[in-house]
Amino acid sequence: MSEKILSIKDLGKSFGNHEVLRRIDIEVNKGEVICIVGSSGSGKSTLLRCINRLEKQTRGQIFYHDKEVRDVQKEINDYRSKVGMVFQSFNLFNNMTVLENCMLCTRKVLHISKEEAFDRAITHLKEVGMAPYINAKPSMLSGGQKQRVAIARALCMNPEILLFDEPTSALDPEMVGEVLAVMKELATTGLTMIIVTHEMAFARDVSTRTIFMDNGYVAEDAAPEILFSNPKNARTREFLSRYLAG
Ligand SMILES: Nc1ncnc2c1ncn2[C@@H]1O[C@H](COP(=O)(O)OP(=O)(O)OP(=O)(O)O)[C@@H](O)[C@H]1O
Ligand SMILES: [Mg+2]
Repeated sequence: MSEKILSIKDLGKSFGNHEVLRRIDIEVNKGEVICIVGSSGSGKSTLLRCINRLEKQTRGQIFYHDKEVRDVQKEINDYRSKVGMVFQSFNLFNNMTVLENCMLCTRKVLHISKEEAFDRAITHLKEVGMAPYINAKPSMLSGGQKQRVAIARALCMNPEILLFDEPTSALDPEMVGEVLAVMKELATTGLTMIIVTHEMAFARDVSTRTIFMDNGYVAEDAAPEILFSNPKNARTREFLSRYLAG
């Protein structure tokens, strides 16, 4: 039987009277690669930010291995080391080298030895093809290279789930492929991932499940071969045909 890692139950989020997430129910099992697609403003980032505790929901609950995620600082730090996040804008420290960026969190949050932090950094920088750049500063790297370093840094924490919020949206078109290739490779390692993306071909090919969000709701949650070829929901069909037309 599949092992449940995250349960999102009846989640809602409002900013003032603007209801951005409405009654979201999602269960995430170990090894799943879930892509979330949907129009701009449908609430995708807000959902990831609630999962990562960058936002507090206004209703509902999130459970990590059946334990409710609470906003107690010590617990949040532990939780975030297990539920990592990769951002559109990389968020690397520009005054540090690639290697230092990859060793910082493991040293400060996990308190592992310098040697182990170094070994982890090298392992994961190799995995994303960035080992030759350990001494480079982020300003010397292309957007695609920065994002690959950000992914390596997230992997150094040994997360149980990685969340990605449009990891390729800030990249020049010619760099999108190298980042998607790294993510596709990660998907084959059994890492559980939730990926918000506008890359429909990637979502169709790599996800084990695709979620279409519309106006704060999960409008459809299905296998990619169903969602992309034979969607049940009229709004999904509309979104995909608009996407294909555009
Ligand atoms: N901090 C905030 N304060 C007020 N409104 C917000 C805040 N964050 C998001 N919103 C609003 O919530 C709605 C959903 O935003 P969100 O960023 O989650 O959408 P999205 O699906 O990620 O869109 P995109 O594809 O453009 O990234 C939008 O109308 C946005 O303006
Ligand atoms: Mg967004």
